[in-house]
Amino acid sequence: MTEIAVAASRLAEAGVESPRADAELMAAHRHGVARSALNQVTDADFDPRFWDDVARREAREPLQHITGTACFRYVELEVGPGVFVPRPETEVMTGWAIDRLTEMDVVEPVVADLGAGSGAISLAIAQEVPRARVHAVEGDPLARSWTERNIARCAAAAPHTSGRVMLHTGDFGSALHDLDGAVDLVISNPPYIPLGAIVAPEVEEYEPSAALYSGTDGLDAIRVVERVARRLLRPGGRIAVEHGAPQGAAVYWVFAEENGWKETRNHSDLAGLDRFVTAVLP
Ligand SMILES: C[S@@+](CC[C@H](N)C(=O)[O-])C[C@H]1O[C@@H](n2cnc3c(N)ncnc32)[C@H](O)[C@@H]1O
Repeated sequence: MTEIAVAASRLAEAGVESPRADAELMAAHRHGVARSALNQVTDADFDPRFWDDVARREAREPLQHITGTACFRYVELEVGPGVFVPRPETEVMTGWAIDRLTEMDVVEPVVADLGAGSGAISLAIAQEVPRARVHAVEGDPLARSWTERNIARCAAAAPHTSGRVMLHTGDFGSALHDLDGAVDLVISNPPYIPLGAIVAPEVEEYEPSAALYSGTDGLDAIRVVERVARRLLRPGGRIAVEHGAPQGAAVYWVFAEENGWKETRNHSDLAGLDRFVTAVLP
């Protein structure tokens, strides 16, 4: 498709980070073919609505809002206005959690996902650890409607996840009291951008602010997650929390031995940047 090259150059001009890949993915979505089959789309088949999609991406609307879906590990999620688009770095933390749950000597491990958004973390765990029971907590009503939709979508595509993700509405700071001391693993990708920080237009204009910002140092929600995890976890239970690349040392100290945790570790994402902290409740 010669249109791809034109679209890619328009996207590059607009400052899009991966213009060629985005142009190809939008064209594949618009024509209902795999990206690898784009060479089979003839001039006669070309759908001019592709140019509307290009204009949206030029205006820095997230690619996943245009295609309507985002892939997260082995789950395809619906995403759009009002919900955070799941990121590859969160897949790494979720993989760490899946490995720990898989090796845990517990019949039905109980998981709490604090700030569920699209349901990405909860659904990936339910899909890959079929014995797990996952409690997904989401405070934002609009985001919650996407979580609900994705739980239903995933149950249809992977029936073994059905009934294994329980959605709870409300502030995660005061959530799940009936599970106090009974949770095997707490996981969270909370908001962690410092107020006033400069972010890409895709983030600033299209992601919900409740998913992004958290106090002047960005750590307010992480401190709440630490407090809640201490209440929810059984002795020996584990926490994994995502943070921004420059926050590794600060988040380490939130979960340090001095604060009652053990085996606190910093972990990197695929780009080698500090991305999440794990710890064990003694
Ligand atoms: C960065 S997004 C992560 C979403 C999803 N877990 C993911 O990784 O793609 C953070 C989510 O936490 C929710 N959230 C933020 N503060 C919350 C709070 N105090 N209680 C419940 N949910 C909260 C936001 O609405 C948002 O959906």
